[in-house]
Amino acid sequence: MKKIIATALFASLLSTTPAFASCEKGERIVKFSFVTAATGHPKGEAATAIAERINSEMNGKLCMQLFPSSQLFNDNKVMEALLLGDVQIAAPSLSKFEAYTKKFRIFDFPFLFSDMDAVNTFSNGPKGQELLRSIEDKGYVGLSYIYNGLKHFSAKKPLINPTDAEGLKFRVQTSDVAVAMIEAIGGNAQKLAFKEVYGALQTGVVDGQENTWSNIYTKKFFEVQDGTTETNHQLLTYLAVTSKEWLDSLPSKTRNQFVKIFKEETIKANARATAINEDNKQKILAAGGKIRTLTPAQRADWVKVMKPVWAKFANDVGQDTIDAAIAAGK
Ligand code: LMR
Repeated sequence: MKKIIATALFASLLSTTPAFASCEKGERIVKFSFVTAATGHPKGEAATAIAERINSEMNGKLCMQLFPSSQLFNDNKVMEALLLGDVQIAAPSLSKFEAYTKKFRIFDFPFLFSDMDAVNTFSNGPKGQELLRSIEDKGYVGLSYIYNGLKHFSAKKPLINPTDAEGLKFRVQTSDVAVAMIEAIGGNAQKLAFKEVYGALQTGVVDGQENTWSNIYTKKFFEVQDGTTETNHQLLTYLAVTSKEWLDSLPSKTRNQFVKIFKEETIKANARATAINEDNKQKILAAGGKIRTLTPAQRADWVKVMKPVWAKFANDVGQDTIDAAIAAGK
């Protein structure tokens, strides 16, 4: 059984890396790199559960090590690192795959998914499963979708009506749908790496951002914003991805067991994602952060200005995929 390294040397690493395992001779090291917190966060909790199970049930064969909080790579570098073999697993947001496929743009359509049940139905349906395989020609294998949740806007001033966002600079992920969405509300979008967001908000490089409760709390964005408006306007979900070359290099029994554990733990973790986000929302409130809610009429105004963005990207994803996503919410 692997032991968690507990020397002083690794103490600081351990504080953010609960499943940092000491690997034994003969085990293949599986480095899992991601940009968010390791604990109290849907992705971090999923990664931890996966690592714990791999390290106990595949002891002697595989040894998974977690590298959270952009310790190893930003999301824009990690895809390259997978192909180079510098890391074996990553889970970037689906918004960050534009260089590999435009089909994932469906997940960024504003106000498409009204809750995580709709996301679950779509992801597990034929279209969602087909999309999982859409970057295989680039050398990647999608292992599973790891859920986070729906996003909310925060800014240096109250956001109640979409017109409140006019002229403000918002940080977005590397997603053209997100850029179009910000432009639709009269804002200026700035693509920035996740680890730069707090500093950019603090120094005024950007005025606002949009993210889930778990990212807003664990990365303390709320501390450098006037408040957050509960808009639930867009989804944040991840693709757990590996390189085909690495996966194929595993003996078939090892590969099958690894993929099975990965999928099983993801399903369990996804069922906890909404509760984890809700917990983070409560922590923001407890820490004195301001959360504003919208009346149905106010929310309808945001929907009205942002939903037309779909038309611009409909050809990239295909009407059949859009229809499947809409049907998943019914
Ligand atoms: C972001 O860049 O805002 C997110 O993709 C970060 C994450 O992994 O949740």
